[in-house]
Amino acid sequence: MIVAIDGPAGAGKSTVARALAERLGFRYLDTGAMYRALTWLALKRGLPLGEGAALGALARDHPVTFDENDRVFIDGADVTSAIRRSNVDRMVSVVARHPEVREVMRERQRELAAQGDAVIEGRDIGTVVVPAAAVKVYLEADPNVRARRRQSERPDIGADALATDLKLRDEQDRARMEPAADAQKIDTTLLAVDEVVAQIEALVRARAAA
Ligand code: CDP
Repeated sequence: MIVAIDGPAGAGKSTVARALAERLGFRYLDTGAMYRALTWLALKRGLPLGEGAALGALARDHPVTFDENDRVFIDGADVTSAIRRSNVDRMVSVVARHPEVREVMRERQRELAAQGDAVIEGRDIGTVVVPAAAVKVYLEADPNVRARRRQSERPDIGADALATDLKLRDEQDRARMEPAADAQKIDTTLLAVDEVVAQIEALVRARAAA
């Protein structure tokens, strides 16, 4: 069974998806980390981020991999922490916008999804990557709360700059941020992580029983 968890930055996707995968004994796939790792590599090599064909080729030649502890690797480097810095935050949507890049990522994500039970988080999982997912959830939250949550994970940047970055990225991501028509929307503004996980787990159990 595939559980698709989509939504904007700071809505709680990663924390919830990880905890849910753990509870269910499912694999966990963070598709954002794949776009982030590619962005890290493109920046490291000084590639122009406007060139879709070159970035698509880079993605094809340098698959992103995860180890059993969900550490993220590209081109032989462990980039787990490097991809969570604000330089990558700022550029990742620019890289992720290219159809050539998305095609490569989509293919890999579908291969991973085909390997069995998984919780997959991203922006377009329920709409494009796995539209047949058994359970689809779209997490949302008040923008101020999303900025505050993200601030605790980004000690390298001030609150105002972070709120601006988040808003910009929402705008850039908008095209692929539409909830799937059949996704269950959950507003996490006032909910604890455990409550969100419990709600989704109930959806999964109901679906499995059906
Ligand atoms: O955790 P946060 O929501 O900040 O970001 P993420 O899930 O790590 O995704 C980073 C960026 O990758 C997003 O802002 C999108 O530009 C892109 N992305 C995408 O285009 N499609 C996905 N399935 C996942 C991420």
